[in-house]
Amino acid sequence: MEANNIIIKPRGCSLFLGLFLFFAFSASLADAETHYHDFVVQQTPVKRLCRTHNIITVNGQFPGPTLEVRDGDTLVIKVVNSARYNVTLHWHGIRQMRTPWADGPEFVTQCPIRPGATYTYRFTIENQEGTLWWHAHSKWLRATVYGALVIYPKMGSSYPFPQPNHEAPILLGEWWDRDPISVLRQATFTGAAPNISDAYTINGQPGDLYRCSSKETVRLPLDSGERILLRIINSALNQQLFFSVANHKLTVVGADAAYTKPFTTTIVMLGPGQTTDVLLTADQPPARYYMAARAYDSAQNAPFDNTTTTAILEYKGACSTKKGQSSKPVFPRLPAYNDTPTVTAFTSRFKSLTTAKVPTKIDESLFFTIGFGFFNCRPGPRCQGPNGTRFGASMNNVSFVLPSSNSILQASYQGIPGVFTTDFPASPPLQFDYTGNVSRALWQPVRGTKVYKLKYGSTVQIVLQDTSIFTIENHPMHLHGYHFYVLALGFGNFNPVTDTAKFNLIDPPVRNTIGVPTGGWAVIRFVADNPGTWLMHCHIDAHLTWGLAMVFLVENGAGELQSIEPPPADLPPC
Ligand code: C2O
Repeated sequence: MEANNIIIKPRGCSLFLGLFLFFAFSASLADAETHYHDFVVQQTPVKRLCRTHNIITVNGQFPGPTLEVRDGDTLVIKVVNSARYNVTLHWHGIRQMRTPWADGPEFVTQCPIRPGATYTYRFTIENQEGTLWWHAHSKWLRATVYGALVIYPKMGSSYPFPQPNHEAPILLGEWWDRDPISVLRQATFTGAAPNISDAYTINGQPGDLYRCSSKETVRLPLDSGERILLRIINSALNQQLFFSVANHKLTVVGADAAYTKPFTTTIVMLGPGQTTDVLLTADQPPARYYMAARAYDSAQNAPFDNTTTTAILEYKGACSTKKGQSSKPVFPRLPAYNDTPTVTAFTSRFKSLTTAKVPTKIDESLFFTIGFGFFNCRPGPRCQGPNGTRFGASMNNVSFVLPSSNSILQASYQGIPGVFTTDFPASPPLQFDYTGNVSRALWQPVRGTKVYKLKYGSTVQIVLQDTSIFTIENHPMHLHGYHFYVLALGFGNFNPVTDTAKFNLIDPPVRNTIGVPTGGWAVIRFVADNPGTWLMHCHIDAHLTWGLAMVFLVENGAGELQSIEPPPADLPPC
């Protein structure tokens, strides 16, 4: 088993379709391509941390294949499930305009692909450029089933920043020294927090600071003076990560497939799900430099994996000393694990490159609390959470439960009752001091499969408010089917009077995943112009498993191209 970032070239692009597009549409569309890929989900032996693990991969590759497309292209990915688990794949950050059937979260937009079954995901990239990624969206399979999705500008257009000499996806991952599905199974049984990971990885490799790993450490060669674009993706299951490269400045130029006003930093922090594109110039003495990532841990008194993953930036000709021995790479300075001020300083520098079209008249003003909760239960092996409870998490006190008889999308499309209810609350059932000392009486959420309905084209504002139930924590909140403007971030309880004045309505960053500050809030806005059922959730899978999620049901519009397409014929049955 081999291969980091093998790049799959489009296979058999249809000449006929190309010609058809050329004649049928304007010349600007003539360059749009259709890329066909086969993704075989399978069990693959890989050696990590001194022993062989049988992990689930796509095509035997870990990380999985990098998808490379241009804005406007269409992807057709035939997934064959040769593994022993149900699986679905999600194209994280792709808007899926009118194609919610291709989004992927199991029991939200589709039923899972059973072992032995096949499903073809078909979707078009519309007005997105930059770095996204794909991952499994079933149980914890994404621990090993993920890869980069790189969207280049349309043919004939270029980056809004200096052209790099090289580009490299940097996939940050999280590794357990056992089957991650069994880690999930154990936590689901006991009700306790899942075991922490044993390593982090860069492009699938833990690096020099772990046992039996240094031979395989990822190396990035470059020449003095060259400029490289690092497409950093946090594909870790449960951990926010700091990233830095020794002695080199990083110029941020994009995040979540949206360009940003360039700014220079030495530290990047990404929550699970987020991507950040940075330019790095080889302007240091020729030598070897570590790039390294380790945890940003914003919770209080919770165990976390405090190890550090490394890869090596290697100036050509600097690989060895005169004696033929490798010189020790320089190590970067990483912030303390709990360095929230560094995170705040970094996050507050994000601005969109161009002036934004932020909606100012709001149809739906929503306020969602996000945080932990606990289910009381009878003492026993299944109640090993704090004080004999089971861990939970909720939004507006609703702990989200996935349906199992059908997907929410199919149930809503076919009008099948009993799969979900439409009473997700617009605000918490009770107002309280969210980040203060919350009374234990408010610690218990209610389970439900509740969606919030949105009219086509309505303008939506959501205040995402962390709670201090059990602990405050930074939650990377991800919305499927959309990207959104981040108007403001802050600490404590959101104050509609004083905090509204701080909104950036000029050039707020566009994201699909926002880290809500620990013990704080974030305000986001979007226009509900994409019909379908769209999961919003914490991208920390432990929290998603506990119910930190909800679903928006965006209704069809009346106009042309404002309704979802009919379901594909091969949509997996439940
Ligand atoms: Cu990156 Cu719901 O996912």
